[in-house]
Amino acid sequence: MVCLEQVKNYPDIKTYMEKGHEYLGTMGAIEHSHRHIERVAENSYKILKELGYSEREAELAAIAGYLHDIGNFVNRYNHGRNGALIIKDMLKEMQMPLEEIAIILSAIGNHEEQTGVVVTSVAAAVIIADKIDVHCSRVRKKDMAAFTMRDRVNYAAIKSELEIETVPKRIIRLRLEINQTICSVMEYFEIFMTKMVLCRRAARKLNCEFELIINNAKLL
Ligand SMILES: [Fe+2]
Ligand SMILES: [Fe+2]
Repeated sequence: MVCLEQVKNYPDIKTYMEKGHEYLGTMGAIEHSHRHIERVAENSYKILKELGYSEREAELAAIAGYLHDIGNFVNRYNHGRNGALIIKDMLKEMQMPLEEIAIILSAIGNHEEQTGVVVTSVAAAVIIADKIDVHCSRVRKKDMAAFTMRDRVNYAAIKSELEIETVPKRIIRLRLEINQTICSVMEYFEIFMTKMVLCRRAARKLNCEFELIINNAKLL
């Protein structure tokens, strides 16, 4: 069985990931490199594992989470679909069964909020793990005057934590701590509305409710 470590050590994957991060830097986009993909892989695994899915399904979610942004080196636009097409032959070469490849490719191809559909439990886990990753360390710009709204929201996020509960109710919770002198709770909510709607849909696929708590106030 192909494991996450094998995928991480595959040379082409490493190169494409680094190039994606480098190219996105030229457009001033937030960080999409090591920290982000490791975190998405880890949280995708955690979501399925703690909700009682099989070890293999949780590992497939970790692999899909690790690979979800690989298409960024081709173009930011449609990077989900591009990424899925790029990675297909590499997974085949690693001898991953087609059934598993299909699960991974569909999760990668459906993680963008503009076109994403929650097709499987793995796709659901990757969507949630990706959309909840807001953090000040992701902002690469040094000059605050050049910040976009997305930069500001990330810059304001001091802490973001994922919590999973199964008893008495199944809940996937994002607990955020934001610096309100940089971004107000309402601004956060406005900018991340579409992401949160997709998270809610993804949580439903996993028979869970999605909760959003910002500075100890429950917004969703
Ligand atoms: Fe992405
Ligand atoms: Fe991402």
